Amino acid sequence: MPNIVSTQRTGNWKLAALALFLSGALAIPAPDASSTDAAASSTATTEPFPYEVSTLTDADVEEYPEISFDDTVYTEADPSSKRSVSDLVCKVISADSKWPSSKIWGIVNFLTGKKLIPTVPLAAPCYNGEYYNATRCAEITASWHDSDLHDQDPTSIMSPFYQGATCMPTTDPTGSCTLGGYPNYVIKAKTVFDIQVAVNFARNFGVRLVVKNTGHDFSGKSSGANSISVWTHFFNDIKHIPKFNRLGWSGPAFKVGAGVQGRDVYAAAKAQGLAVVGGEGMTVGYAGGYLAGGGHSPLSSIYGMGADHVLEYEVVTGDGRFVTANAQKNSDLFWALRGGGGSTFGIVTSVIVKAYPDLPVTTATFSFSSTDLDAFWDAVKVYFNTFVTNADAGTYSYFSIFTGTFNMAPFFAPNLSAAEVTGLLQPLFDKLDSLNIEYTPVITEHESFFDAWQASFPKELVGYTTVQTASRLFPRANWVDDATFDKTFAVIRSVIEEQGMLLGFNMKNEFPGGGESDNSVNPAWRQSVLHAIGAASWDASATSEEIQAKRDYLTNVQMQKWRDVTPGSGAYLGESDIQEPNFQQAFYGENYARLYQLKQRFDPKGVFYARTAVGSEDWTLDLEGRLCPN
Ligand SMILES: Cc1cc2nc3c(=O)[nH]c(=O)nc-3n(C[C@H](O)[C@H](O)[C@H](O)COP(=O)(O)OP(=O)(O)OC[C@H]3O[C@@H](n4cnc5c(N)ncnc54)[C@H](O)[C@@H]3O)c2cc1C
Ligand SMILES: *[C@@H]1O[C@H](CO)[C@@H](O)[C@H](O)[C@H]1NC(C)=O
Ligand SMILES: *[C@@H]1O[C@H](CO)[C@@H](O)[C@H](O)[C@H]1NC(C)=O
Repeated sequence: MPNIVSTQRTGNWKLAALALFLSGALAIPAPDASSTDAAASSTATTEPFPYEVSTLTDADVEEYPEISFDDTVYTEADPSSKRSVSDLVCKVISADSKWPSSKIWGIVNFLTGKKLIPTVPLAAPCYNGEYYNATRCAEITASWHDSDLHDQDPTSIMSPFYQGATCMPTTDPTGSCTLGGYPNYVIKAKTVFDIQVAVNFARNFGVRLVVKNTGHDFSGKSSGANSISVWTHFFNDIKHIPKFNRLGWSGPAFKVGAGVQGRDVYAAAKAQGLAVVGGEGMTVGYAGGYLAGGGHSPLSSIYGMGADHVLEYEVVTGDGRFVTANAQKNSDLFWALRGGGGSTFGIVTSVIVKAYPDLPVTTATFSFSSTDLDAFWDAVKVYFNTFVTNADAGTYSYFSIFTGTFNMAPFFAPNLSAAEVTGLLQPLFDKLDSLNIEYTPVITEHESFFDAWQASFPKELVGYTTVQTASRLFPRANWVDDATFDKTFAVIRSVIEEQGMLLGFNMKNEFPGGGESDNSVNPAWRQSVLHAIGAASWDASATSEEIQAKRDYLTNVQMQKWRDVTPGSGAYLGESDIQEPNFQQAFYGENYARLYQLKQRFDPKGVFYARTAVGSEDWTLDLEGRLCPN
């Protein structure tokens, strides 16, 4: 199964994490940096990372108009400066005469110190031609479902279905391997300068720009045809700030580079006796798509969402400028970056986040199954009925249901003892006992967040082309009385019975401190106690019509049942359905109008585009794959 499954664990990812962590210490600024001025103006009080010191200056672009900044300014005070859809122009495709010549691409390569890479699809060694290498092909094939294979490649993404699956591992080297939805070129960015060159170049030449960090995006938003991609993987620095002391926070914090993965932030925090709010996924990024989407966390029920803890961003905006965004400076941009989605308002190069004292965590894992499906569902229902209690007790649980089998992997309880966890699970265990269904819980107390996280979450398998997911946030109100809960559960059950599987997350995500949210996280998250992910799957031999029919059934029939029982709620853009109808409401809720206005202001030329991102409804792909304004 997909992106999402389940009990697979691997033993040696820690080594890979260590290697990445070590290599991250070595970011080197470009030799031509005219650096000190830029550094002083970009961050007043927290030192930039070495790679953030090297920035593009007005003097640099004087010689190279190809990479000049954009001076379009949109101010709220002057409505006539407001960008409208009619200001956008079609992006070029590689078949167009206006596509940059090889000489121009050469200039980009030269200016970035040879960091422009033409895309070679990851599985190209499996195909006859200049990249053929049977040994390498065997390696790629063997680890295709391992997320680290893809997060270490410049262009590969973990949901190849959305790239068109045009170059999959194969034992038949005579097949065809084409670019499909991959970008044409990638900037292997090592400095902010590199990113600014890519942004200015893409905008000035009308080339589509994409951003790839790890490639985890469920809907392929970190890829795109006829484009140049910025790869943020090498922005690996992490810095502990023992006492941050500004922007209203006097506690500990971490400054984290855009390429750092959650696991490395956790390890760095643990070393200081701290914990940060990040995702469950073993290899998911942190400052990129994760925080941009809001970010749910094993610590969510006590602390809220990842984005609720951001103090400051460094970001390259669509005009090519490198700016700081926090509650005082560029505060609108700061609001939008915390929940408004990746690849929309700029390219983040680092983030500063609050950290909290490390805390003990108890985890529980167990599974049960029954061929008596009514008994099975009775037990599952008793568990679902505890969601409000569990979330209010500060727990996060990650579970899957396949026909007749339930797997808890894990029930994660920060600050609770084994006895308290057993108490929370007792209603389920009593029900299972009464039904004579076996279960063998493993309940473990861990001293630190990192230890508990590392020991209990699965490393999910990725890289499938025969599945698509869709999701829904279920609000607390659906648990308010027995009749509402019965109806809710019946609808969830009917969809799982029909499609065979569900991934569920029981948690809450209230804004920390209980006040009004000060960021653009989907308001539906604040009410929710269940994030449920369903899926459609098909045979590898299915025709595109058959696949589309399955996808449409998932989106429009099955998910509609979930929408109908949760009116006004939404879905998590980070783990969603690219076909989600009215995605503006579902992924952004009542924040959409303001997000759209800010998109116009900060990205008047539409430099950043990804499907279902804010403002993406202004664009359509024409039949030749040209992205054009409506
Ligand atoms: C196995 C797995 C486990 C997951 N677990 C969790 C979880 O526990 N909690 C949770 O909330 N989500 C989880 N997710 C969803 C995940 O948070 C999103 O897919 C997220 O977008 C991944 O971000 P990334 O930067 O790692 O990936 P990418 O696919 O590289 O990027 C995602 C999006 O952000 C953009 N982007 C990346 N970097 C930047 C940047 N520096 N500046 C601007 N835009 C950028 C990309 O263009 C793309 O649109 C999981 C996903 C998977 C596949
Ligand atoms: C083929 O791949 C193997 C394994 O990655 C590598 O060691 C070898 O150098 C490659 N051969 C060539 C000719 O590139
Ligand atoms: C964890 O429990 C301790 C002791 O009961 C308490 O002081 C602390 O505030 C709790 N931490 C969180 C984050 O709830």
